[in-house]
Amino acid sequence: MRGQILALTEGETDAVALMATLACEIHHLHPFSDWTGFYRVVAPELLKIGPYQGGHGCLVIPFSRGVCGACARTGEIQNVPDVDLFPGHIACSSSTRSELVLPVRNGDGVLLGVLDLDSNTPNAFTAEDEAFFTQLLEDVFCKAK
Ligand code: SME
Repeated sequence: MRGQILALTEGETDAVALMATLACEIHHLHPFSDWTGFYRVVAPELLKIGPYQGGHGCLVIPFSRGVCGACARTGEIQNVPDVDLFPGHIACSSSTRSELVLPVRNGDGVLLGVLDLDSNTPNAFTAEDEAFFTQLLEDVFCKAK
């Protein structure tokens, strides 16, 4: 997955073009991601839907709400093995059982948004996923505008 994504995105700096390409590739290649997409920072403390694959996602998420909001607010990866146990989880799809959300920053450290992977399988995402996607996001978005 990594080699293919790096080849596809080489030389591209447009954040939405990068997000669209990653959403597609990750969604089709990750065995457990049933919804794969980005929420973009569009105003102070506010996320709005970006490129995604899967069923429809909610359009707007304040930093104060949900797993995506927690990731954007804290800047920390949120690996949630059971969404029913996460206070304030936003259920865009009732079939979602677990989620992995990672911050997306450019090379200047500016938070561009978050990557959200949702799975219909409980406890779907591993520490290896966390490390893999952290490195991939850093490599792909380092020059993003
Ligand atoms: N479940 C997320 C919201 C986004 S969607 O599921 C596509 C959350 O709690 O932030």
